[in-house]
Amino acid sequence: MIYQNINVEKRGKIGWITLNRPKALNALCQALIEDLNHALNMLEDDVSIHVLVITGSDKAFAAGADIKEMKDRSYIDVYMTDFITKGWQRIAQCRKPVIAAVAGYALGGGCEIAMMCDIILAADTAKFGQPEIALGTIPGSGGTQRLTRAVGKSKAMELCLSGRSMDAVEAEKYGLVSRVIPAADLLSETMKLAEKIASMPLPVAMMVKESINRSYETTLSEGLLFERRVFHATFSLQDQKEGMSAFAEKRAPQFKQQ
Ligand code: CAA
Repeated sequence: MIYQNINVEKRGKIGWITLNRPKALNALCQALIEDLNHALNMLEDDVSIHVLVITGSDKAFAAGADIKEMKDRSYIDVYMTDFITKGWQRIAQCRKPVIAAVAGYALGGGCEIAMMCDIILAADTAKFGQPEIALGTIPGSGGTQRLTRAVGKSKAMELCLSGRSMDAVEAEKYGLVSRVIPAADLLSETMKLAEKIASMPLPVAMMVKESINRSYETTLSEGLLFERRVFHATFSLQDQKEGMSAFAEKRAPQFKQQ
């Protein structure tokens, strides 16, 4: 499949998506979002793919929603078309693990798309921010919600109210990203992590993801109950028998649902 605004490759068990709209710093126009959704649907349906990676260029992961495309839209138009909901939430609905590999700008919708992924790996060049206030609007795809859950109220307020962006070191310090990596090594380190996750049994990886995501939606006791039930369910898997037997027999596991 040839796309206009993204590149998609299958690298073994990894579905690798590169946002590719260099002249606009990967600004998220509707056509790009449609390409991305198509690719995500295809990779989610592909049983040979275990992990998805979304990355951009050295200069920009994505510099936000396309300002030029949306600037003249009316209230009734954005309301009636549910602008920025339709399509934009697809990443957050993926069942397979998704890694964002971020170099350069991840601003506005770019930061929001990164935050919809499960893990953010940041190059030391990465810059994260929600500058929408300087455009006379507010973050529209999770910036006030996911950023607050990630970095806490005070830091999220500061970033969203001032429009300041934070560098990779600050983003790691406040828990937005899991690791900062020298820019030259970002893609190879991302591939290593993706391959490591892809070597685990896929249903179990999906259950881990589902369980961690429950913690954002529910109380602790309900979340613990959900976790316990999923933990019990893993005992029905051949790969649980194999994983634990392999440990007891001091050998490497041979997972079937890899
Ligand atoms: N939308 C449309 N075009 C964009 C864009 C965006 N978000 N960001 C950059 N571009 C375009 C520029 O207009 C420019 O195009 P031209 O060459 O045709 O003029 C090209 O990309 C290169 O950009 P700059 O010349 O500005 O590059 P720079 O290196 O000087 O600055 C930047 C980089 C600081 C990221 C700057 O481009 C910038 O501030 N971009 C906008 C960031 C922003 O406000 N993002 C939030 C968007 S709103 C949003 O995302 C809402 C939401 O919640 C979903």
